[in-house]
Amino acid sequence: MKIAFIGSECYPFVKTGGLGDVMYALPRALVREGCEARVILPLYNCIPDKFKEKMVYQGSFMMDLTSDGRTFYVGIMESVMDGVTYDFIDNREFFDWGNPYTGLWEDIPKYCFFSKASLAILNYLDWIPDIVHCHDWQAGLVPLYLRTKFDSTPVGRARSIVTIHNLRFQGICGIEHLKYWSGLSDMLFDYPVLKHNENEANMFKGGLAYADRVTTVSSTYAREIQTPDYGEGLDGHLRYHSGKLSGIVNGIDVELWDSAADKLLAAQYDRNSVLACKPLNKNALQKALGLEPDGEKMILGLISRLTDQKGLDLVNDILPHLIDGNTQVVVLGTGDPRYENAFRYYESKYKGTVCAYISYNEGLAHQIYAGADALLVPSLFEPCGLTQLIAMRYGTIPIVRETGGLKDTVEPYNWDEDTGNGFSFNWYDSGLLLGAINQAKSLFFTERARWDKMVCRDMEKDVSWERSAAQYLELYRSLER
Ligand code: ADP
Ligand code: GLC
Repeated sequence: MKIAFIGSECYPFVKTGGLGDVMYALPRALVREGCEARVILPLYNCIPDKFKEKMVYQGSFMMDLTSDGRTFYVGIMESVMDGVTYDFIDNREFFDWGNPYTGLWEDIPKYCFFSKASLAILNYLDWIPDIVHCHDWQAGLVPLYLRTKFDSTPVGRARSIVTIHNLRFQGICGIEHLKYWSGLSDMLFDYPVLKHNENEANMFKGGLAYADRVTTVSSTYAREIQTPDYGEGLDGHLRYHSGKLSGIVNGIDVELWDSAADKLLAAQYDRNSVLACKPLNKNALQKALGLEPDGEKMILGLISRLTDQKGLDLVNDILPHLIDGNTQVVVLGTGDPRYENAFRYYESKYKGTVCAYISYNEGLAHQIYAGADALLVPSLFEPCGLTQLIAMRYGTIPIVRETGGLKDTVEPYNWDEDTGNGFSFNWYDSGLLLGAINQAKSLFFTERARWDKMVCRDMEKDVSWERSAAQYLELYRSLER
């Protein structure tokens, strides 16, 4: 089985969030199952030179794109890593900006070009997949191009799957803007496909309509997005297409996230040595971040894009209530200046107790997963969430809101039976978040043996890709011609 993954991020080349992790880990897991996998990405300027230097030029051609027939250069640069082939689409005009996402006005042309060029390079390379697996709105036009302009070309034999990683972003713009840049026929700009409202078109909506199957990254989110509260305006569209919609929960790459071999940690550990080593990692973290180096304190971590999605207003509301002389808080993230500044304010107010590390830092993320006692993920919505999975794998107890993948992956602690993997709360309310944190604290400070058992239980939990990759494979097979 041959699968082409089309998406806008992939670790280690370019990553702003979990999409990058999935685009890295899922193809690798499928290669282990005997599939052939190719990942198609834009050759962004921000991809580090050390990767660019290893890429090999595979050819180039001109491709028509716009409704007035303008043509654009498509270059193909290739890398192979652990059995997965990565093809980067080169075009300076579209991808020479600093970051992947610059603003919707430029992003719409960029991802029209990317979606169409992805199919064009498959024909050019004469590598015809069984499945094109498209991720998020940036690859949203692929299923439409596949069934129209490419239908009678070799790649037209492929079936398409669209995976929703985050429905909040859809690629919505003026109808004329999308008509011009996509070059797609007027017929498609109708309500069942691309039309969003009287004036606007929606790239993701069209892709969801034309895909052979739609998946999202947890079963709960698959249900949630069919309701007005979580559907981001597409709940009706998704209910209409519910027959082809399902949820497959993400895993994490357990080689990349392996506390026993993680060179970024002060002390590597496994399930048997976690209780002895966590204090060493905690101490190293406290020293590195200017927190009072005290092994008795409980460290609450938060690693996140700082956006409304992540429940940060709840954290801001309650942060002063966490300052009790026994607790420290570490925040790692960038994003909305409103949250960045709020966390900076708390750091200056509670020096030595709160640390706000406002930046994107892979190394520090590893050190927090290992050195913290608990990780906060109180999201407003969370399609899957990977930080709670990484936390469990590193023996750090997640405290989550019961939504999306958080609900599907964290079993709440049961005091009577001494079971579960973390703490959770249901309604989006700061008092409930505080309640869940206080429960965690009371277990940590008064029933340490039970806490430690949960740490070990979490490290043993299967958070790998294996089971989910098998579910994807089954889905691909169900589409085989
Ligand atoms: P989302 O994709 O919505 O941002 P996920 O939980 O799926 O959320 O994935 C987030 C990924 O990004 C995780 O691998 C997490 O460790 C990483 N991450 C988020 N913020 C930072 C940061 N500031 N520095 C380093 N890694 C981060
Ligand atoms: C998105 C979601 C996150 C999910 C990730 C990978 O960015 O916000 O919940 O884990 O994609 O699927």
